[in-house]
Amino acid sequence: METCLLPANAEGVRRAAELLRAGEVVGIPTETVYGLAANAWDEEAVRRIFVAKGRPQDNPLIVHIADREMLYEVAARVPEQALALADAFWPGPLTIILPRGPKVADAVCAGLDTVGIRMPSHPAAQAVIRASGLPLAAPSANRSGAPSPTDAKTVWEDMQGRLPLILDGGECQVGVESTVVSLAGDVPMVLRPGYVTPEQMSQVLGCPVQVAGAVTRQLQAGETVRSPGMKYKHYAPKAEVTIVRGDRDTFARYVAAHPAEGLFCLCFAGDEAVLDVPCVHYGTEQDPAAQAHDLFSALRRLDELGAKTVYARCPEMEGVGLAVYNRLLRAAAFRVVEP
Ligand code: TXA
Ligand code: MG
Repeated sequence: METCLLPANAEGVRRAAELLRAGEVVGIPTETVYGLAANAWDEEAVRRIFVAKGRPQDNPLIVHIADREMLYEVAARVPEQALALADAFWPGPLTIILPRGPKVADAVCAGLDTVGIRMPSHPAAQAVIRASGLPLAAPSANRSGAPSPTDAKTVWEDMQGRLPLILDGGECQVGVESTVVSLAGDVPMVLRPGYVTPEQMSQVLGCPVQVAGAVTRQLQAGETVRSPGMKYKHYAPKAEVTIVRGDRDTFARYVAAHPAEGLFCLCFAGDEAVLDVPCVHYGTEQDPAAQAHDLFSALRRLDELGAKTVYARCPEMEGVGLAVYNRLLRAAAFRVVEP
């Protein structure tokens, strides 16, 4: 199959909508990361996403909507708390897990009776949903296991030949995937941290918001899997990544004491002044949003440079930093040292 790369202008959006209505998969920009979209009502179309990505069948997809009308079509019920979160954070990088409506294709929910729903803020994503008139099931547009793509060129590199069209809507603003929050239990629970933080949601809801244990550690044997995505190896560059806790000087001492073949540092801007090995930056120490924005492209950059061993500076583990830490921890296959 030949893959077309078009700018996300009126013509590109028209072509995308046409293909989506015909049951094809299209690469689209969102404010978080690029997605691989297909008609969420159409079983066959959704299956094509799993094939293109090489995604395990038991990992459910998020459905992207453009208005409240679609919300009531996709979800069987919309509780008060969901409306409060939607009012506060939609359109934007928040996915809410709700009871699944009957029209949603089985493959979207991977056997669960719930569905993840989000209203993206990227104008091109909204335009494609509106022009097609369809809710769009869309996972991140990487091959399964690779870092999520934050620009169209990266989607092209991962996906060319596997789908007919990728829309280029520029670089993604947020850079990490949406926050996933479940309202299925007694207390709202973050299954995947993102740009919308537990603290922000707690303020809107006026109640505590929990963070699932698997966000900051490996699933334990026998532990209930709340979000199937957390089971899998993720965001993995080819190099062996180790997270090094502590401040800049602690990090520099660790790096100096642990030479390795093909060594690179994944650090914050300015750290290179105290390091004697090649560095790739992700944001600055004080700015978790900048770290989120840069992380996935930095991981891919390390591959391009042929890194074999990577020591990574550890982000703050709160606010947006929790999303950064969650992704980096998986990229590092949970290797963390505290010198
Ligand atoms: O920002 C994003 O959310 C991006 C863009 C494209 O919108 N999409 C994305 O999709 O990251 P994906 O498929 O890479 O990640 C979806 C995550 C997975 O961890 C999955 O297990 C979880 O959401 N998920 C989806 N539906 C769920 C459900 N019904 N219950 C629990 N977890 C669910
Ligand atoms: Mg993904």
